[in-house]
Amino acid sequence: MKLRAPVLWLLVAVFAAAPLSAAERAPGKAAIASAHPLASAAGHEVLAKGGNAFDAAVAVSAALAVVEPIGSGLGGGGFFLLHRASDGLDVMIDAREKAPAAASHDMFLGPDGQPQRRLSLESALAAGIAGEPAGLELLAAKYGRLPLAVSLAPAIRYAREGFPLYPRVQANIERRRAVFAKQKEVAAVWLRDGASPALGTIIRQPQLARTLERLAKHGVRDFYEGELARRLVTGVRKLGGIWTLEDLAAYRAVERAPIVGEYRGARIVSASPPASGGIVLVEALNVLSGYDLAQLDSATRKHLIIESMRRAHRDRAVWLGDPDFVTMPVAGLIHPFYAAGLRASLRLDRATPSAALPGVEPPPQGTQTTHFSILDAEGNRVAGTITLNFFFGSGLQVPGTGIFLNNEMDDFSSKPGSPNGFNLVGAEANSIAPGKRMLSSSTPTFVESDTGLMIAGSPGGSFITGMVLLATLDFLDGRSAAEIVAAPRIHHQYLPDVLQYEPGALTEAEIVALGQRGHQLRESGRRWGNMQVVTWDYATGRVEAASDPRGEGEGQVY
Ligand code: GLY
Repeated sequence: MKLRAPVLWLLVAVFAAAPLSAAERAPGKAAIASAHPLASAAGHEVLAKGGNAFDAAVAVSAALAVVEPIGSGLGGGGFFLLHRASDGLDVMIDAREKAPAAASHDMFLGPDGQPQRRLSLESALAAGIAGEPAGLELLAAKYGRLPLAVSLAPAIRYAREGFPLYPRVQANIERRRAVFAKQKEVAAVWLRDGASPALGTIIRQPQLARTLERLAKHGVRDFYEGELARRLVTGVRKLGGIWTLEDLAAYRAVERAPIVGEYRGARIVSASPPASGGIVLVEALNVLSGYDLAQLDSATRKHLIIESMRRAHRDRAVWLGDPDFVTMPVAGLIHPFYAAGLRASLRLDRATPSAALPGVEPPPQGTQTTHFSILDAEGNRVAGTITLNFFFGSGLQVPGTGIFLNNEMDDFSSKPGSPNGFNLVGAEANSIAPGKRMLSSSTPTFVESDTGLMIAGSPGGSFITGMVLLATLDFLDGRSAAEIVAAPRIHHQYLPDVLQYEPGALTEAEIVALGQRGHQLRESGRRWGNMQVVTWDYATGRVEAASDPRGEGEGQVY
């Protein structure tokens, strides 16, 4: 067939206008959104030294351990979702903590058979074997370009020279004041005359600086098998913990395939178990894909979002745990047919009581934590959610190291059906066993549409996945990164059966309409989350980085 010239031109034009996939183009600029300006600056520093997004993730994580030690640290763990631009690889590094070999199913139950929250949150028994150092080692060695010593340099500097105390850390020192006062070395850094230091006080952490220097000089294996490992085990055991040298030597960060789904033509890539976020997010989006949300009034739209959260969090509670220990129906949970079945139980005019959903076995979960999102000029990406669980972990520090111990053991279901520190309930799938990873709500996520990309995530324990769900919907509705992180939030986690909302998240009319449907509404006294978002618009080339106004972070584009 002979094509006439105008037709040919039309074909060329259509072809030329077809959106290029992210893999076919590079943004040409880098962006970092993290919970603290010094952490973002650390990432920029290593990018300027020839590092890529993965080196920057190491630098940002290490810097956050210093300047935001309430949220994450070397004594904790986390999840790094990676995208490598050169071959399009998506992979998740699982650096989640593991239960020590001496841990046991009922270790947090008292003589009355009830969970003892103090043990799983405030004692040295609360600490899982730390995974963050191993995660950083794997990131740097397999995906980065720079030696660990270069990527750790900004964090070492911050630990040695100090950072000015800001309100969020000050408030959490106040909450941990009693336990800090009992530890001489901790009190020397974090207290002044037994009280929280004044805002702006320069906090120097010389012991943490020396620990980071050891890792830079001897490598991360020192943490797991060297002199540092011996100090850690001696210190933890003196505090009443059960870590052994064998636990540390056996710890490995592992690579896992992410959860991949699709919503309104956009590709969703998110965290896989032992993080629950990806499954809950994709399951909720699958439920919502059966409705034209844009055509619905705002109360109905919010009702459906809440009902999708309820159902997806219910499955989290019943099914999810460590994939190395439990078999989970993952393919089924994220299948569109399963979502169609869930929609059959969903009414537009009425809330579904959580107790009416089948197989209720009340579920558990966690809050302080931190997230960062990074895009480099080549298109490599990292969404990292790292954590100590609650603020400063347990508040206990391993003597001589500057390392705070996590209290992640509370993310296990100490007793199936009993709520944990985040009011989450869980089933046997998330019970404690030696060497097992506790379930996390972390939801580091990439959303790729034909027109753009979002890298997102947040701290916030059980609230995390709902926040990322709202962010995904907002991004696909065309909202900017700044609008996405600032938007007021609503939440439902199946149990407790309550629709929680931030001040201003619902209008008076929506409150009435949702109440009439039978939702139990509760306005939260505080705002939640600290979302960090990077977006890239393929058509305009515009890259944005935005930090949640609820925190003090700073999104920067370089
Ligand atoms: N520690 C909070 C979480 O990982 O869910």
